[in-house]
Amino acid sequence: KKVVLAYSGGVDTSVCIPYLKNEWGVEEVITLAADLGQGDELEPIREKALKSGASESLIADVKESFVKDYAFGAIKANALYENSYPLATALARPLIAQALVEAAEKHGADAIAHGCTGKGNDQVRFDVAIAALNPSLKILAPAREWGMSREETIAYGEKFGIPSPVKKSSPYSIDKNLLGRSIEAGILEDPAVEPPEEVYDMTKAIADTPDEAEYLEITFRRGIPHSVNGEVKHPIQLIETLNQVVGKHGIGRIDMIENRLVGIKSREIYESPAMVVLIQAHRDLESLTLTKDVTQYKRGIEETYSQIIYNGLWYSPLKAALDAFIDKTQENVNGTIKLKLFKGNAIIVGRKSDVSLYSPDLATYGSEDKFDHKAAEGFIYVWGLPTRIWSQQDR
Ligand code: ARG
Ligand code: SIN
Repeated sequence: KKVVLAYSGGVDTSVCIPYLKNEWGVEEVITLAADLGQGDELEPIREKALKSGASESLIADVKESFVKDYAFGAIKANALYENSYPLATALARPLIAQALVEAAEKHGADAIAHGCTGKGNDQVRFDVAIAALNPSLKILAPAREWGMSREETIAYGEKFGIPSPVKKSSPYSIDKNLLGRSIEAGILEDPAVEPPEEVYDMTKAIADTPDEAEYLEITFRRGIPHSVNGEVKHPIQLIETLNQVVGKHGIGRIDMIENRLVGIKSREIYESPAMVVLIQAHRDLESLTLTKDVTQYKRGIEETYSQIIYNGLWYSPLKAALDAFIDKTQENVNGTIKLKLFKGNAIIVGRKSDVSLYSPDLATYGSEDKFDHKAAEGFIYVWGLPTRIWSQQDR
């Protein structure tokens, strides 16, 4: 039996290698580490997999697709799970699954393995995405079944030459990529406790942010971020730039109690500077360029879309159908949003678009006013008719 294992270089995924071979009779483990812009050095990770007993160790650079096909799709949908979480971890899972399936097909593996626990969302996202892409592949999730504590896991690994973490290992469970960091566990499990500053990495504490406000202009084309401060940016570079500029002002921190798919409420800390500001700006540009009914109808679609991503249904007919709707709405979402960044706040201070639906002639209270005031009376008569009839009947 040959298995492709989703590999991060951490203790758990490393222990999966000897565990699969010794406990589950797997003959060959091929590891795959995805480069999602998490900033880890990947060559040492590749070597660690080989030292831990992998027969082959692959790296898949999927950064560009991650931004263009996943992040930009989420921005067009203003996707925030439960109104808050920009889905950095959730968006990465279907893409990693795709890389795993491709590797399994190429190397003739019959199964895919991952190190997710049985309590989380990630296991669902991997399992469902793999099933959608190639239902003939078996899925192995050793950490869901081995029942070892952290200490036992480390001890098991040491028996097979997997070094225990050099530095005192972090009390937190951290997932990170170009779009953000997700931090949980440790002291954060008490929802009443303020997160210690040490959990953050992409965003500055307010006390350490600049005392001067900074202006930022983001230009969108068809709902997709295209340039920053007038400079056209490659998608990866655009996200990197915004993470840096926005994070420096302490913007993009989220502390929430969220509802996992498996029914558990969990306390999650996120930092996602670029995504937070991009969605804020994109939504504002839509207010200028979409009609009233499309804007309001789209809100419901966005809620559903966020749940689809969160709940592991990226590859699904509903997602594809909603994409068609969303893409249609984005045809005129072109323009520039001006934000002011200061002490943890991104404040939108201006917007412009060549296809703006805002009409100064109609909106003005000045003498250029073109709105037909007399038409209002008849409109209100008809609009208020049901209310008037109800009120008379009620008395
Ligand atoms: N709760 C978040 C989500 O479901 C983050 C999960 C983070 N994963 C982790 N291994 N720390 O998307
Ligand atoms: C895990 O339990 O494996 C990570 C957290 C999650 O998937 O939500």
